[in-house]
Amino acid sequence: MSSNHSIKEILESRSSVRAFTDKVIDGQLIDDIFTSAQRSVSNCNVQPWQSRVVTGEMRNRLEKELLAQILGGAEPTPDFDWLPRYKDVHRERQFGSANALYGAMSIERTDKRARQASMLRNWSFFDAPHVVFFCMDKYLGIMGAVDMGIYAQSLSLLMEEQGISSCMQGALGQFPDPIRDALEIPDDQGILFGMSFGYADGNAAVNKAKTNRANLGDAVQFYS
Ligand SMILES: Cc1cc2nc3c(=O)[nH]c(=O)nc-3n(C[C@H](O)[C@H](O)[C@H](O)COP(=O)(O)O)c2cc1C
Repeated sequence: MSSNHSIKEILESRSSVRAFTDKVIDGQLIDDIFTSAQRSVSNCNVQPWQSRVVTGEMRNRLEKELLAQILGGAEPTPDFDWLPRYKDVHRERQFGSANALYGAMSIERTDKRARQASMLRNWSFFDAPHVVFFCMDKYLGIMGAVDMGIYAQSLSLLMEEQGISSCMQGALGQFPDPIRDALEIPDDQGILFGMSFGYADGNAAVNKAKTNRANLGDAVQFYS
């Protein structure tokens, strides 16, 4: 299923996928992808990532426990404080991405119930058969978070190269307790975020969502 696409082509064609088929990825391929991602750069080569890749019965157990906790009214208790409160242009872009998502699903702005139901799908891992939780030592804070983002991007591009789709999910760091218990994550490690991955459901409306990007001039200034 290797695409033979360049990184440029992958970046131009990819998008986050939020509906997956139940087709399981070959275990050796998952191993190879995570092995290649080990080559990611990190500050002083500290490689802070401690990934927990979950599938099968454990995946189903976590889905059940997370949904029970959230539907039971639990408040988020993230290990790391990065709940985004965006301002100005960032807020506009946040709205833009939500509109792309709900627009693709024909969910009205005022339809709170449908929006909540769609949000809840985060903790069903969007039906993906695989999910990875990105953990790191809590003391690392922003230093480690930079490296974690780079590592996650490596994984996501390596997956795309193999025809595997993914969605990075801050939502998966919001209710760490059931995950910590089930996966026996030590107290000095935290779950920063997660990523569901698998084969995209080509028929799902949600996967038609396309986000845009700012123009080069709004993001990069060149000096000489
Ligand atoms: C760190 C991070 C956290 C994210 N958290 C979520 C999330 O919790 N749920 C979700 O549906 N998408 C999440 N996303 C996906 C973004 O919304 C998405 O990447 C962005 O809107 C750009 O769209 P695209 O990936 O389709 O190009 C996250 C992305 C990143 C990088």
